[in-house]
Amino acid sequence: MKNIVIFISGRGSNMEAILRSISSGVLKGVCSVSCVVSNRADAAGLDTARTYGVKTAVVVSKGVHAAEYNRKLRETVDAFSPDYIVLAGYMKILDSGFVKQYPKRIINIHPADTSAHQGLHAYEWAFENRLKKSYITVHYVDEGVDTGEVIGKAEVDMVGATSLHDYEERGLAVEHRFYSEMLKNIFITENVAR
Ligand code: GRF
Repeated sequence: MKNIVIFISGRGSNMEAILRSISSGVLKGVCSVSCVVSNRADAAGLDTARTYGVKTAVVVSKGVHAAEYNRKLRETVDAFSPDYIVLAGYMKILDSGFVKQYPKRIINIHPADTSAHQGLHAYEWAFENRLKKSYITVHYVDEGVDTGEVIGKAEVDMVGATSLHDYEERGLAVEHRFYSEMLKNIFITENVAR
């Protein structure tokens, strides 16, 4: 059973999908969440995590010097000795020292094909380009922005989607299912003694 820490910055719908999957879906018996960490005290996902009985921590990033933020983040996370750190709408770029400390142990979900679009506003990008088919990518986090090794990609059928809302709704439905599936694959196939 893997011990994970989830990082969020806002709504936390992917985090909730993972928590749901742990209680009654594909992640049941596969992993548990020792803490949900947010860099914003007002992240709605924090309340959601609490309703699932999951411990939460806030490490405020705004107005804090990067070195200080990274030190606190590290201290907070290390206390839980996680096997994996799962980013779910975490809006900050992780410090390279932190990434090096958890090689191939930090996983992210990106709402586009990472080879076609990196960074923010992926659904806007897909909508503006009127893509008929889009992708959700689950990948390891390296020191770049959405450049890490791809774990899996899922297709999103955008045929008939006519608004940004449609694009997001269709994409998120896939994200919520696909992230847990990919996490399960990684967690159960990983046999490295730790
Ligand atoms: C999702 O689209 C995720 O792929 C991206 O940020 C969004 C976060 O949404 N990285 P939520 O906080 O999980 O609801």
